[in-house]
Amino acid sequence: MKILVLGSGAREHALAWKFAQSNRISGLFIAPGNAGTEEHGVNLPHLNPNDVEAVTKACKDRSINLVFVGPEDPLANGIVDALSKSSINAIGPGKDAAMLESSKVFSKAFMKSHAIPTAGAKEFDNAAAFEKHINRRKGRFVIKKSGLAAGKGVLESEDKSELLEFGKRVLETDTLLVEDYLEGWEVSVFALSDGVGYKLLPFCADFKKAMDNDLGLNTGGMGAICPVPLVSQSLEKLIIQKIVEPTFSGLKKDGLTYRGVVYFGIMVTESGPKLLEYNVRFGDPETQVLMPLIQSDLVSLCEAMLSGTIDKFPLQISTDSALGVVVASGGYPDEYKKGVIVESLPNPKVKNQLVFHAATKRDDQGRIVTGGGRCFTVVGTGPNTLSANCAAYKAVPDVVFEGAWWRHDIGKKYFMNE
Ligand code: AMP
Ligand code: GLY
Repeated sequence: MKILVLGSGAREHALAWKFAQSNRISGLFIAPGNAGTEEHGVNLPHLNPNDVEAVTKACKDRSINLVFVGPEDPLANGIVDALSKSSINAIGPGKDAAMLESSKVFSKAFMKSHAIPTAGAKEFDNAAAFEKHINRRKGRFVIKKSGLAAGKGVLESEDKSELLEFGKRVLETDTLLVEDYLEGWEVSVFALSDGVGYKLLPFCADFKKAMDNDLGLNTGGMGAICPVPLVSQSLEKLIIQKIVEPTFSGLKKDGLTYRGVVYFGIMVTESGPKLLEYNVRFGDPETQVLMPLIQSDLVSLCEAMLSGTIDKFPLQISTDSALGVVVASGGYPDEYKKGVIVESLPNPKVKNQLVFHAATKRDDQGRIVTGGGRCFTVVGTGPNTLSANCAAYKAVPDVVFEGAWWRHDIGKKYFMNE
């Protein structure tokens, strides 16, 4: 089978790394890919994942049988619908179901109509009504841009003027939700859906804040762990019963076929788990900790998703833990430098550690240069979260480039629960 992975992040590097281990592939392409993915397959650096026609043509020219869509934008643009018209298999939902991520107004209405527990929310599309509501409103709340915003569409703050300013800016181009603030801790749950049944992967936790002890600005995620020691069997059951099952029965009721990854962003509160958001793809950095733990062949897993047999698939998962630490560029999540020369990376031969690149490139002298805000994810594995943490943090200082920084406490708050 010939496979194309769309995207250039560490998530796509982890997917390419895992696909490359399969003895069932005869070709692996990554578009546009990065300096890490070129170790596992052929990068197509000039192919834009959002250019539906160019992707379709590239698949035909190279006899690619399967496209794995990493990021949300091509899904929201309808890439899977276009590929399927040309009889090219793809993992990811069509444009209609992708609205679960591309429109928070749509996803909130979906949650409400299928009685899925979530934060109460009010929708606004004009500044005057929004301002009146905010001025009257008491307590803590969150403002969310409805459309895609690459992790920058949500503001939680106690400062009303900051919330007002943010909301008014959103309203210039989009609708927004004002949502009740939920107190608790977060888990990321991934389901592989074949349109009929689904299979859950082990639960992950993402560390979204920029600074240690969950302080500072929201980011795309500064680290992740898998599994999550705090998740008991009874909590897992509750999440399936209250959130996962009603989602899949809701999709069926609403006539939405979903063949791809459903990502449930969940807040575990005192009154039970509540759904914060859906994403219609794998998480980043969660994928970097999931892939090393999946023992089954990824090509066979994708085939089960394509053939409607996922619930019978004998999914094998390691009993180990994995922990990822994101190494970011100086200034991220605000303005940051790109094109910084990477002076060194951890030795790839050391057991229990992996390095996934994000948006890196090679310059004309063959040196690796950074290309994004989150530049690398260093992953450690071990029998528990603590040992995975030690393995990851042993390797992190070997990532050397000017301005590199990372959080020091990924996974730490979970150690005592093991
Ligand atoms: P979302 O894109 O909706 O997942 O929001 C991004 C992040 O903002 C989440 O992962 C949470 O950390 C935070 N967040 C979103 N909604 C809420 C909420 N209602 N209460 C508290 N935190 C939230
Ligand atoms: N880890 C957050 C995301 O992928 O959206």
